[in-house]
Parts: sequence; structure tokens; C-alpha cells
Amino acid sequence: SGKKMKRQEQLMIQKTERYVRKELENEASGHDWWHIHRVRNLALTIAAHEKESTIDPFVCEMSALLHDIPDEKLNESLEAGERKVRNWLEELKLEKRKSDEILAIVLHLSYKGGTNKVELQTIEGKIVQDADRLDAIGAIGIARTMAYSGAHGRLIHDPNKKPREEMTLEEYRSGNDTAILHFYEKLLKLKETIHTNYGKKIAADRHRYMELFLEEFYQEWDGKK
Ligand code: ADP
Ligand code: NI
Repeated sequence: SGKKMKRQEQLMIQKTERYVRKELENEASGHDWWHIHRVRNLALTIAAHEKESTIDPFVCEMSALLHDIPDEKLNESLEAGERKVRNWLEELKLEKRKSDEILAIVLHLSYKGGTNKVELQTIEGKIVQDADRLDAIGAIGIARTMAYSGAHGRLIHDPNKKPREEMTLEEYRSGNDTAILHFYEKLLKLKETIHTNYGKKIAADRHRYMELFLEEFYQEWDGKK
């Protein structure tokens, strides 16, 4: 029955949550458990607001939980990461159709920077990708960027640095991004890549918050106030 299935799905989510928490326990590269926690909750929020009637919140939640498991940074290779997710879904004995859906989303997200430029096909995939991208902007995005920069020994800001597009090759090669540069290279561009209507609303608010932050930041930097 539908009720029994919901109960089974609940159990699978709980098991998967435990598994992911354990896998990411010692992870400090910005892929800690609380990133997963936020992406999961945001994905469910977006799913609840989208008008499409065919959205499967179970697929959204499972994909959000698993989305960083095959990440290249956490595995010896993409293939090793892919195997990890496949094995986990097999262990759960999830029906093949749903398992394939989740796998398609999770693998696609983890190949983002790579050669796999296939568009996400399902609404669930778009929702999870939106949630993952939204976690890189707004107040959380600012905090993550500062944490990442600090961990890599970079400056908060250097007024002599320009956005990459404006750099000469020599300047570019000298490397050492600052935290503030990362806003122009990535954070302020993310708003335009959001798929869902509700995701776009959240993105607009978070984007505005970052613009205000930068405005205030530069005024304080120059001792203007
Ligand atoms: P994702 O969660 O999409 O895999 P990344 O691993 O690229 O993101 O980055 C994790 C976090 O660190 C994100 O919030 C991202 O914006 C931030 N970050 C990534 N690269 C830089 C950088 N060069 N400078 C500052 N922050 C960065
Ligand atoms: Ni992520």
C-alpha cells in the first residue's frame, strides 16, 4: 500500500543519512555533513513550492543526501565514487526505476566541472542542483567562501586584484585568488543558472544580500564609515 511504501522510504532515508554522515565525518573541504543537511532541506522546500504535480520528494531527498558521495575530491577517482553510490543503492534494494533516477542525478552533479555536460532531465535533478548552488550564495555562501579561502591561505581581499577576465596572463598565472574575487568569478553568476521558479526567488534574495555585503565591505575597507 501507499502507506507501507512511505514507511519504507522513510527507513531508507534514515539509513542513507547515517551512511552519509559517516562518510563525510572527517570532511573539511566544504563538503561537510551540514552542507548536505542544508541542501536536503532546501531541496524539500523547493519541491514543496513547485507547482509540478509529478515531483517525487523521496528522489529529491535521497539525491540531495548522496550528491557529494561520488565527488572527485573525496574519492580516488570518479569511477570509484560512482561505484560507491551504486553499491549503496543496491544495498538498499531500492526499486530499479527510482535507483536509476537517483543515480542519474547524483552522478550528473558530481561531474559538473568535467566533460559530462548533459543537461539534467528530471525536475528532481533540477531541484537538487538548484539547492546545491543556492548553498553557495547568500549568507551561507559568504561564510563558506571565507572559510575556503582561509583554509587555502588566501587573503580576504586585495584591491590590486581584478576579476579573472580583466587579468593579463601573467597576473592570472600568479594565482592566489582572494575571497572577494570568488564573488565575481562564481557567486554572482550563480543566480542565472537556477532552474526552478521558487529557486529563482530564493536566489534573487540571496544575490541581493551579497551585493549589499560587497557594498558595505568596500565602504568599510576604505574607512568611509
Ligand atoms: P561544491 O559544493 O559545488 O562542490 P566547491 O567544492 O567548488 O563547491 O566549493 C565548496 C565551497 O567553497 C563553495 O561554497 C565555494 O563557493 C567555495 N569555494 C570554491 N572555490 C573557491 C575559491 N577559489 N575561493 C573561495 N571560495 C571557494
Ligand atoms: Ni554540494
